Amino acid sequence: MKIDGRQMRTIWIERDGVSAGIIDQTQLPHRFVTVRLATLEDAARAIRTMQVRGAPLIGTTAAYGVWLASRADASDEALEKACSTLAATRPTAINLKWALDEMVAAVRNRPRNERPDAAFLRAGEIADEDVTINRAIGAHGLQIIEDIAAQKKKGEPVNVLTHCNAGWLATVDLGTATAPIYAAHDKGLQIHVFADETRPRNQGAALTAWELGHHGVPHTVIPDNTGGHLMQHKMVDLVIVGADRVTAQGDVCNKIGTYLKALAAYDNAVPFYVAAPSPSIDFEIADGADIPIEQRAAQEVATITGKTSDGRIETVQIVPDESPVANFAFDVTPARLVTGLITERGVITANRAALAQAFPERAEVRPKSNRMVG
Ligand code: MRU
Repeated sequence: MKIDGRQMRTIWIERDGVSAGIIDQTQLPHRFVTVRLATLEDAARAIRTMQVRGAPLIGTTAAYGVWLASRADASDEALEKACSTLAATRPTAINLKWALDEMVAAVRNRPRNERPDAAFLRAGEIADEDVTINRAIGAHGLQIIEDIAAQKKKGEPVNVLTHCNAGWLATVDLGTATAPIYAAHDKGLQIHVFADETRPRNQGAALTAWELGHHGVPHTVIPDNTGGHLMQHKMVDLVIVGADRVTAQGDVCNKIGTYLKALAAYDNAVPFYVAAPSPSIDFEIADGADIPIEQRAAQEVATITGKTSDGRIETVQIVPDESPVANFAFDVTPARLVTGLITERGVITANRAALAQAFPERAEVRPKSNRMVG
């Protein structure tokens, strides 16, 4: 994606060749700040504090975290410890475990002195594969948007509702849910996006709106509770969201509030699509209820951060001092509410047979662990 005319990814190798660079997403949309990750702990902290977030980018950052760890100590014990440190940062997005498994497979049978280079190579491949996958998701999703556009009056935009940020910032480039949107916009289709603000951390208002704006895609930020009203009034043609984990039977875990959008979409016969790259599919879990749901700090709900009229960034408390707060970060949308999964191998039905048919090599693989020994 281009930021102020400059081609960028969300993660890159710094000029020194021994560290990775990221955009600090906690500073957006008001400040564009980059951060250098030089150690395993830097990478783990970036994921934990959500300087990087979004399932694919979490996975890729963890992959580079293993590389950074291997530069310091490439022993089995050190790399096992690095993997468990990274695995513990955020429990819900399966891309994290997927990436760690890939990294372990890449270094496990090599002599110690070769491990840093092997880790660097595999992390780079993981980053590149993410972009390739997202481009394919964009092409498949574009067909859905084109079909809807064909039924519209001339000049009428296709209205897409999305939740959270499953965009460029959540991946290495292009995004998953946004890839079809960018593909349609770049092809000259009239497209307009409703971006849910996505409390408590406001990834929709802060991040999705920011990146759509930079790409010139017409969009409107809406409070989280507006989607149902828009759907009742035929103001949404389709919903496209991302996924932190899709189970073997097609249940979709994504940012808290996704389920409510799916219910509203179902009640109003609005197509509800999930952009699901294969590293987000967990063939080891069938029932979405078995997915670990991250619970985050109460302070994320109790406060809100924004820019004051004189340009300062401030955080203010919005709930009474004594009120308890709950902060479940994700929810599960049952497969029956999903119109289709937009994968890199095409748009498929959210069920076990379709997933296994599209990804036979993943569906048949025995459970893997990210242990070095074994
Ligand atoms: O808590 P976050 O910001 O990491 O949550 C992000 C989401 O829920 C995204 O929709 C999901 O990771 C898919 S990103 C392509």
